[in-house]
Amino acid sequence: MTEVFSRNGIAPVLSIRDLSCAYISRNFGLLGKKEVKPVLNHINMDIAPGGIFGLTGESGCGKSTLARCILGLIDYEGEIVIDGQKREERGRLSRECRLRLARKAQMVFQDSGASLNPAKKIGILMEEPLCIHRIGSPAERERKTDEMLVRVGLDPSYKKRRVTELSGGQKQRVCVGRALLLEPKLLIADEAISSLDVSVAAQILNLFRDLHDDLGLSILFISHNTDAVEYLCDTVALMEGGSLTISHQEHEGFA
Ligand SMILES: Nc1ncnc2c1ncn2[C@@H]1O[C@H](COP(=O)(O)OP(=O)(O)OP(=O)(O)O)[C@@H](O)[C@H]1O
Ligand SMILES: [Mg+2]
Repeated sequence: MTEVFSRNGIAPVLSIRDLSCAYISRNFGLLGKKEVKPVLNHINMDIAPGGIFGLTGESGCGKSTLARCILGLIDYEGEIVIDGQKREERGRLSRECRLRLARKAQMVFQDSGASLNPAKKIGILMEEPLCIHRIGSPAERERKTDEMLVRVGLDPSYKKRRVTELSGGQKQRVCVGRALLLEPKLLIADEAISSLDVSVAAQILNLFRDLHDDLGLSILFISHNTDAVEYLCDTVALMEGGSLTISHQEHEGFA
């Protein structure tokens, strides 16, 4: 990855230029024909520091594919710059590159239950990213975990609980906290409120808004729920036919 500097002094947290992506699948058998399925078609977008960018579109249009490209999970054509770092490698990323990317962008998924190992206690799960990135002593990691649990609206005593002892909303709060422990500049929430009932979904939306206000976090919020997108986001994009139509939102009293 190489460092990219902005020309006007304020670099976007995420800058995407001319991004195209296709899935290649092979039909069964030795002589199976290769099938190329284009999904993303010359996409351009920016997320400014502290911006909340909403992405909507029909199921299967390519929203999660865009998120996977940003996180370096699949190969693409074009340029993605995250917090001044441009990816140079193609194909499978090296461990060093994956770790560096993980400190810049983190993802929260729809199924919080599947994202968390049910055999482990919440304290262990929360500390895991800090251990992998060798951040802090055991005491510092415990302090950071306690602080993060409070920040996402859970009491530190939840550390002793197992995943199965938490509600859907509480599990999603753990996933958000776990993602933020590495202090990423960009949080990608892919259908993060879709499996929650209306009141819990509203609480998680407000959590995203508080994290944005308090930490200056930039968020890519992917959702089918256009009301939620309009409520939370300052920029909204509709994905259709692999392209984006981008519009800016006015929020009274909400920067
Ligand atoms: N690994 C893969 N191999 C081949 N095709 C894939 C793969 N993953 C996704 N696709 C296809 O790419 C298209 C875009 O999928 P994607 O998951 O990005 O859609 P989405 O907009 O996130 O949908 P949803 O709103 O249902 O989550 C779909 O047609 C899907 O079938
Ligand atoms: Mg998806």
